[in-house]
Amino acid sequence: MRLIAANWKMHKTVSETEDYIRRFLELLGDVPDREVLLCPPFTALHRAGELLRETPVRLGAQNCHYEKSGAFTGEVSPVMLREVGCSYVIVGHSERRHIFGENDELINRKLVACLEEGLRPILCVGEKLEEREAGMTFKVVETQLRLALSGIEEHTDRIDVAYEPVWAIGTGVPATPEDAVSVHRFIGEILRELNPSASGKTRVLYGGSVKPANAGEFMRHPEVNGLLVGGASLDPESFSEIVRSF
Ligand code: 13P
Repeated sequence: MRLIAANWKMHKTVSETEDYIRRFLELLGDVPDREVLLCPPFTALHRAGELLRETPVRLGAQNCHYEKSGAFTGEVSPVMLREVGCSYVIVGHSERRHIFGENDELINRKLVACLEEGLRPILCVGEKLEEREAGMTFKVVETQLRLALSGIEEHTDRIDVAYEPVWAIGTGVPATPEDAVSVHRFIGEILRELNPSASGKTRVLYGGSVKPANAGEFMRHPEVNGLLVGGASLDPESFSEIVRSF
C-alpha cells in the first residue's frame, strides 16, 4: 500500500495538533487503499497518539536516539516512541544531517534501534544542489543507502526510503517527476541487490515541495510508492487533498 506521510518539522503545539487532527479526520474520509501517516513534534506525540488510536491514520516521530535509555540529555528513545503510539520514525532527514551534523554511521545505529523496537523507519536520502550540479546525485544516494543499511540488509523489508533532494526541500521547486523516477528506479535497484527477497516491500517515497497541485504527477508513476510532505502537510485541507489526489 502506498504511504503518504506528513512531516510537520518544528511546527504545532499540542492544542494546534488537536485542532488539526479533528479537522483532518473529518476531511480524510475513507481512504482504504493508501496508508496515511502524521509525524508531529515530540511534545505532541502522546496526545496525537490518543486521538489517532481508533483511526486508520498512523503516528510517527521525526527522529530518535539509538539507545533504549541512558544519560543522553535531550534525546528520546524508540521505546518511548513506541509507548505513545508511534509505529514509524523518520531517520536521517536532510535537516538532521545538515543542521545537526548526523552522519551515516549515526543514522545506521538509529535504524538498528528502530528495527529492534518494531518501529518502521523511513530512511531519508538525497543530494545537495552542488552535488547535483557536479553530476553526483546517484553516487551520493548510493553511498547514503549502503552506509545506512550496512549490517541490516536482511531487514530492508521493514524499512521505507524517502528520496528528498535537498535543493527541493522547502524551496517551492520540486524535482521533475521524471528526475525523481530515475532516482527511485536506481534506489530500487540497489535495494534489490542488497536484499533480493525483500523486493517490493520497501516503499520509496518522494519528498521536496510536494503540494496538492503536483502530488498526482508524482503518484501516477509506479516507481513512486508514496510522498513525504513538509510545508503542505501543515494545513489539514491541503494535506487531505494530497492524500486524495490520486
Ligand atoms: P517540503 O514539503 O516543505 O519541501 O519539505 C519536504 C520535507 O523535508 C519532508 O520531510
